Amino acid sequence: MPALSNTSHRKPMVGQDLDALVTPAQGDWPRYTTPLRLGVMASGSGSNFEALFAATQQHLDATIEVLVVNNPGCGAQLRAERLGVDCIVHDHRQYTNREDLDSALVSTFEAAQVEGVVMAGWMRIVTPVLIGAYQGRLINIHPSLLPSFRGLDAVGQALKAGVRLTGCTAHIVTAEVDTGPVIAQAAVPVMDNDDHQSLSERIHRQEHRILPWAVALKGRDWKAQG
Ligand code: GAR
Repeated sequence: MPALSNTSHRKPMVGQDLDALVTPAQGDWPRYTTPLRLGVMASGSGSNFEALFAATQQHLDATIEVLVVNNPGCGAQLRAERLGVDCIVHDHRQYTNREDLDSALVSTFEAAQVEGVVMAGWMRIVTPVLIGAYQGRLINIHPSLLPSFRGLDAVGQALKAGVRLTGCTAHIVTAEVDTGPVIAQAAVPVMDNDDHQSLSERIHRQEHRILPWAVALKGRDWKAQG
């Protein structure tokens, strides 16, 4: 029987090494002829929105033209005010159906002449009105390794299922919720003593890395399509 390969030099993955569990691996950040014009949608704290904004100040060749929030006064709106990003409130409670809300979103994004839209913690189901207007140009971030744990409270679902590994996924939005083509994923371990908050925080740290990277990758396609 052949001897097992000597793996004694390989240490268990701890600390910073966990950052390696991103696919596709992060390489050189693309530069475009002109910076990519982005629209962003958020419902809650807005940490992914801010991570995206921070990336535009560094290696992501893009500008956030407008943030849309559906919850007035949410954390994302406050961050936009602090960062000097235009923020429009489209409170879903003011619309009679999802399509009308999405029409308002499309109008906002068209007026801002964005080339792609990022759902950075948007907690409403979107309709073909938005998806069709930004076909292949609408990116969502979800806190699980899709196709596992689609839908609401993916972190809670992972804890309940007892998985040892979960993560986050940036993907293109298609008609069926949380099923569109994957752009980038990062794996995140579940520790024995994790609760919802500690696991969410670990996942968030990876979301903040893969979302800008996914935008950079898709931006190349969008620019090539013109
Ligand atoms: C993120 O974890 C994101 O993946 C999740 O909401 C959180 C928003 O956090 N999105 C979904 O669950 C969408 N299905 P943030 O407001 O701090 O960016």
